[in-house]
Amino acid sequence: MTYHDALRDTRFPIVHGTGEMPAVGFGTLFRDLSLTTQAVKAALEAGFRHFDCAERYRNEESVGIALQAVLQTGEVRREELFITTKLWNTNHRPERVEPAFAASCRRLQVDYIDCYLVHTPFAFQPGDDQDPRDFQGHVIYDSGVTLIETWRALERLVDEGRCRSIGLSDISLEALKELVAVARIKPAVVQVESHPYLPEWELLEFCQEHGIILLAFAPLGHGMEPNVLEEPVMTGIARRLGKTPAQVALAWAVQRGVAFLTTSVSPSHIQENFDISSLPQRAMAEIRDDITTRIRFNSVVETGVPGFIPRKK
Ligand SMILES: NC(=O)c1ccc[n+]([C@@H]2O[C@H](COP(=O)([O-])OP(=O)(O)OC[C@H]3O[C@@H](n4cnc5c(N)ncnc54)[C@H](OP(=O)(O)O)[C@@H]3O)[C@@H](O)[C@H]2O)c1
Repeated sequence: MTYHDALRDTRFPIVHGTGEMPAVGFGTLFRDLSLTTQAVKAALEAGFRHFDCAERYRNEESVGIALQAVLQTGEVRREELFITTKLWNTNHRPERVEPAFAASCRRLQVDYIDCYLVHTPFAFQPGDDQDPRDFQGHVIYDSGVTLIETWRALERLVDEGRCRSIGLSDISLEALKELVAVARIKPAVVQVESHPYLPEWELLEFCQEHGIILLAFAPLGHGMEPNVLEEPVMTGIARRLGKTPAQVALAWAVQRGVAFLTTSVSPSHIQENFDISSLPQRAMAEIRDDITTRIRFNSVVETGVPGFIPRKK
């Protein structure tokens, strides 16, 4: 039997909104969309209760099927789940926000969303094409809407009780500060890439000062090179503590006050990623002080174009 303490049950209170976010989350961005339902079912079975979705992932229906299946057994109640989904870049115009939100709820088969995020601060040409490009292959942005105009439309969804909190993703610290200064309802959550090679300490400090949950995507480095899970500091700690490098990376996130989203289609990895427990302070300090590699794997923050989503099916 795997030893674990209370770390994996950590829940961060939603300061600007209602509820609590389980720190341990499961993401639903899959290369092979046909694996969505079974992976989400495996995650529910392993104990995950926090799920991260997006209209851009084009599989909200398959996530909804898995969620409904477990809700219908009565083993899990809707209130125990924390469901996030995201507004895509082509829907930033205020009049497009509510219809996009309603469509996500319909596909996910839920009547409220725990946290609705603006997927990126970049507005794309409105329309049905999620990846609008000109004849040279350049993204067509939309200069007809500002982030605060989009945000006001999200605030209305909170006012109407249709989502319990709102937040931002793929945003820089500078842009976050600007939005926080003018938002009526402050962001509850900021979702960005973060792992031992991209700790984002400054952003974390700002978030903690302002009651914002920092939610890390790619907490294992998305399996890319240089591989966080092969980092000598991580493997050394893992060996010493009898854990896997993935468990060390995920425990480090929660222990420093960061929620995470990990993704896997492998039932054993899914279970492993849920079975985390606290690290000794020495290990926390080693990860902070002895790892000097710095790398961002996903350049979405620069363009709004997601680095991990293949462009064409
Ligand atoms: N806001 C955004 O722009 C944005 C961008 C990217 C991602 N996200 C969200 O964040 C979620 C997580 O991101 P991510 O997929 O990059 O996370 P990740 O967990 O860092 O990377 C997933 C990769 O790691 C492997 N893996 C998972 N557990 C493992 C383990 N215990 N040991 C070894 N390898 C393991 C998986 O392969 P196997 O399947 O073989 O296990 C997969 O290739 C996404 O699903 C999505 O919801 C958001």
